[in-house]
Amino acid sequence: MSASQGGDRTDTGERMETKSENGIVKARDDTLVWQRFSVPYQYPVAFLRGLFRPENPLFTEIVARDDIAKRHRCLFIVDEGLATAAPDLEKSITDYFAAHAAQLELISPIMYIPGGEIVKRELAYIERMQDAIHAHAIDRHSYVIAIGGGAVLDAVGLVAATAHRGVRHIRIPTTVLSQNDSGVGVKNAVNFKGIKNYVGTFAPPWAVLNDFDFLDTLPHRERIAGISEAVKVALIRDREFYLWIEENADQLATFQPEAEEYMVRRSAELHMHQIAHGGDPFEAGSARPLDFGHWSAHKLETLTNHHVRHGEAVAMGIALDARYSVLAGLLPKGEDERIVVLLETLGLRIWHPALQGTDANGTLSILVGLQEFQEHLGGDLTITLLNEVGVGVEVHEIKPEFVHQALDWLRARERN
Ligand SMILES: NC(=O)c1ccc[n+]([C@@H]2O[C@H](COP(=O)([O-])OP(=O)(O)OC[C@H]3O[C@@H](n4cnc5c(N)ncnc54)[C@H](O)[C@@H]3O)[C@@H](O)[C@H]2O)c1
Ligand SMILES: [Zn+2]
Repeated sequence: MSASQGGDRTDTGERMETKSENGIVKARDDTLVWQRFSVPYQYPVAFLRGLFRPENPLFTEIVARDDIAKRHRCLFIVDEGLATAAPDLEKSITDYFAAHAAQLELISPIMYIPGGEIVKRELAYIERMQDAIHAHAIDRHSYVIAIGGGAVLDAVGLVAATAHRGVRHIRIPTTVLSQNDSGVGVKNAVNFKGIKNYVGTFAPPWAVLNDFDFLDTLPHRERIAGISEAVKVALIRDREFYLWIEENADQLATFQPEAEEYMVRRSAELHMHQIAHGGDPFEAGSARPLDFGHWSAHKLETLTNHHVRHGEAVAMGIALDARYSVLAGLLPKGEDERIVVLLETLGLRIWHPALQGTDANGTLSILVGLQEFQEHLGGDLTITLLNEVGVGVEVHEIKPEFVHQALDWLRARERN
């Protein structure tokens, strides 16, 4: 991250002269010495099958990429839900490490933590992981490797980023959502005092390894839910991808491998592109373009105690914001209907009664959520809506009357 503060700067050794355009920082005397450096981040993201087939060298090459001569210590932390669904996983990892023993050392036992929101909610799991990292003397040249859904990756990522101020961390996402969105990014977090993602960091990983084979054991509901993140990013960034999703909706809804792999990969690439080239990888500004459809989704997840899954809530949030965009005159009429039809064809619902829940003052709970969302981010309210399919637009106000009208529309549609 570079320490930049608007204005041209001339480096004059220790002292830097600042000619500010915004007039805030103008010192040319000895008051300010600008510390400035930048660190380029890079990490590989792989898309493959058979990551732990013994003959596949990729994992070893990635772990040993800075030193092929030494043995690298690896602590695995694995999602219990995945381990139950894929009982051979532990043996695959053990066999792989045996086949690559010259460069890899498996720290045993493999650690298991629950999948889903519980691991982000119960801080005892964080402490257990910290204990393991300490007990196994994981240092800044060893690896903490997380295998699991977005929740496990978020929790392990936080622990890895903060142990010794950051140990090497490899993510192996195993849900559609974590492969096509959350796993390829730079954020981690756990919930605190009921507030989602309150404690977290920005910490680019050592590598992300997306193995499509993991998706085969995913429950139907989870596998569908994650597609909404691909719809989201297509809607704000890539019309062609959106048209492709429309054309391939039936294949996606029935998990045809070729369609599913392309959907995951293209979505992940678009998320990666936004992080690398959007100009704000660590979200210092007010805009969060990748959070289209998310302002209501976050609240809906909390309101339903996570019975509505993140991806499912995002589908409803997309439907709401698409209708809102039409009501606000931003998106041509009919495009809202088109988007809703796609979501439904994919098997995603667009309505949940909690969307119209109110607090004690009669205010829509999701509007209270909007306020909380802004407090979490700080800065000006900035919400991405749609100008057309494939083109997002930022607004700085959400009008309650349009939200009410959009909700009525969604509810009426659901009844038909
Ligand atoms: N860090 C970010 O940028 C970011 C972005 C979006 C979402 N998230 C977070 O991701 C989380 C949601 O992640 P998710 O949708 O991946 O779900 P999840 O992590 O909640 O996992 C869902 C369920 O699937 C199980 N599971 C995981 N992989 C499996 C597999 N291959 N086979 C069988 N079962 C498996 C888990 O045990 C869990 O029960 C939320 O906490 C959300 O806040 C983070
Ligand atoms: Zn999301």
